[in-house]
Amino acid sequence: MRTQVAIIGAGPAGLLLAHLLARGGVDAVVLETRSQEYVAARIRAGILEQSSVDLLTSAGLGDRLRAEGHEHRGIYLQWPGERHHLDFLDLTGRTVWVYGQTEVQKDLVAAGTALVHYEVSAVSLHDVLAERPSVTFVDADGAEQRLEADVIAGCDGSFGPSRGAMPARTFERTYPYSWLGILAEVAPSTDELIYAWHPNGFALHSMRSPTVSRLYLQVPNGTDPAGWSDDRIWDELATRLGHGQDGWKLTPGPVTDKSVLPMRSYVQTPMRHGRLFLAGDAAHIVPPTGAKGLNLAIADVTLLSRALVAWLKDDDPALADGYSDDALRRVWRCTHFSWWMTTMLHIGADPFDAQLQLSQLKWVTTSHAGAQGLAENYAGLPIGF
Ligand code: FAD
Ligand code: DHB
Repeated sequence: MRTQVAIIGAGPAGLLLAHLLARGGVDAVVLETRSQEYVAARIRAGILEQSSVDLLTSAGLGDRLRAEGHEHRGIYLQWPGERHHLDFLDLTGRTVWVYGQTEVQKDLVAAGTALVHYEVSAVSLHDVLAERPSVTFVDADGAEQRLEADVIAGCDGSFGPSRGAMPARTFERTYPYSWLGILAEVAPSTDELIYAWHPNGFALHSMRSPTVSRLYLQVPNGTDPAGWSDDRIWDELATRLGHGQDGWKLTPGPVTDKSVLPMRSYVQTPMRHGRLFLAGDAAHIVPPTGAKGLNLAIADVTLLSRALVAWLKDDDPALADGYSDDALRRVWRCTHFSWWMTTMLHIGADPFDAQLQLSQLKWVTTSHAGAQGLAENYAGLPIGF
């Protein structure tokens, strides 16, 4: 088999890259270890930045997003006794959209632009420094295959083989807490997301649609979700989110999914080695606070698709040569923002830290400059800033 770009991983980064390359006239083949159904059903991110929405729209993927997604002007930040709204539209002229990663994934599959081999195994990268790199794998029927390409794009997340195929430096941070996340068949109790600081731990009220809520609780690392009954989760969410405060009520409902997510930051640099390029979670992970993971993956492949079209179609390597530096500018900005939101909102062991957090929260909710800084990062800088 031969193609111009061999893409490893059919998550949002891999499928969107294939879609953008096809629109630019460059062929790609995508290899994915999981089944199409498994990839489509994974419950993950839920918030799209303005620039992600603009990119998806310009790539012909915006119809259902604009019909079924929900535009939010901002978020609420709160701590016991106080809730403040930050209006991103007023502060920055930009908004965010509630539209699940599952829906983005469905739209990409429906577009039908990517040629994907699902349920492959033994994926291995070869000769990434040579003119003709290749990827070997075993296809779904058990046949050994070799895919030759001009370029390999590693979009295979943090556990895929691409990261290990390049000599790179990794910067990382682990956090001493995790999130217990639930999906519930109940109308959200809020019009926009609530990020809550509470002495018991952080809580987040998010949503997926007018009938589906997504909520998270800070829990210790190693927490077994089986130890948290639905009643216990709703009681704790009510406490941390301020049920009863100024007449606000949290309405519980049937829980349809429950899982624990560990939190870490890592950045692998550079994001290119010879003819191997990394994009999305293969190159970086952020803790979820601030909803950057999916948006970063979209920004990476936007830059990478432009670079590969210029190189492979127009014989101009300049953007490809600049890809790692260009992508890392945004990666480090989002890495800092996600770390900052995480450390501002999660409870640790030290009461000194709690006082600093409250001071910071009071500043970002009362100072125009403070609020604008948070809003600019949350609603997201333009791709390629
Ligand atoms: P992925 O979506 O991880 O896709 C990588 C793909 O590569 C997968 O389909 C995988 O099966 C495939 N793969 C792996 N190994 C191989 C191999 N050997 N060969 C071929 N294919 C392979 N972000 C947010 O912004 N908000 C959230 O609330 C949020 N929640 C999350 C919850 C969870 C449990 C996780 C894991 C992530 C969450 N994220 C969240 C992060 C966000 O979902 C990711 O940043 C986003 O999925 C990145 O897309 P990606 O395509 O780079 O990676
Ligand atoms: C969601 C996740 C986040 O990490 C976040 O900051 C906002 C929303 C979500 O899953 O809906």
